[in-house]
Amino acid sequence: MSRVATFIGGTAGSWRVVSMETIAGLPLGIVDRVAVLHGDRRGQPHDGKWLLQGMTSNERYVVREEKQILVARQPQLGRPQATCAALIPIRKSAAWWNLTQDARRDIFETHSHHIEIGLEFLPAIARKLHHCRDLGEHEPFDFLTWFEYAPDHAEAFDRMVTKLRSTQEWTYVDREVDIRLVRVDG
Ligand code: HEM
Repeated sequence: MSRVATFIGGTAGSWRVVSMETIAGLPLGIVDRVAVLHGDRRGQPHDGKWLLQGMTSNERYVVREEKQILVARQPQLGRPQATCAALIPIRKSAAWWNLTQDARRDIFETHSHHIEIGLEFLPAIARKLHHCRDLGEHEPFDFLTWFEYAPDHAEAFDRMVTKLRSTQEWTYVDREVDIRLVRVDG
């Protein structure tokens, strides 16, 4: 399967938008549906209000011990009971990107405990991280984060996001839009 994922916000797609909240920076246009497609669609016509693309990549921060726990606990996307989703596009500031890799890891895990916080919520939440930064000069976001969970875990998801947003890592987030969705078919 292609490493590129395309999210088209408009009036079509399997995911109905329940809420769109701008957490930082510029908002995205309000839409009713999000279509999640595989492969590179840039330059192709579409009738959405916006199109976001990202691709999966190698991991940058996770260390061996963390990876073992993640692999053991993390569920796949597409579970039938996971009818809720969140698409949270994120951009980090130049100050973040100017740091060295080891300084970023210190902020990401040693000070902010991103992985430790996230692990508490597995296997309830399935996730996929897409990178956009190296796709071109003018990408609106650095990451497109995608999560799937059952309605019973919506509250836990909110708790996790609140915890992450209070960390040092998030002081580097300068654009973030939190889009919540429910699956309408499939
Ligand atoms: C289900 C719980 C979560 C787990 C287990 C988790 C785990 C991880 C891991 C392991 C990485 C590092 C990947 C690497 O080594 O490159 C990562 C990166 C990231 N996560 Fe999470 N995460 C969770 C929830 C979230 C949430 C809710 C958000 C957004 C609100 C988020 C946003 C990000 C972003 C933007 C990155 C990329 C950071 C960077 O490269 O600067 N994560 N996550």
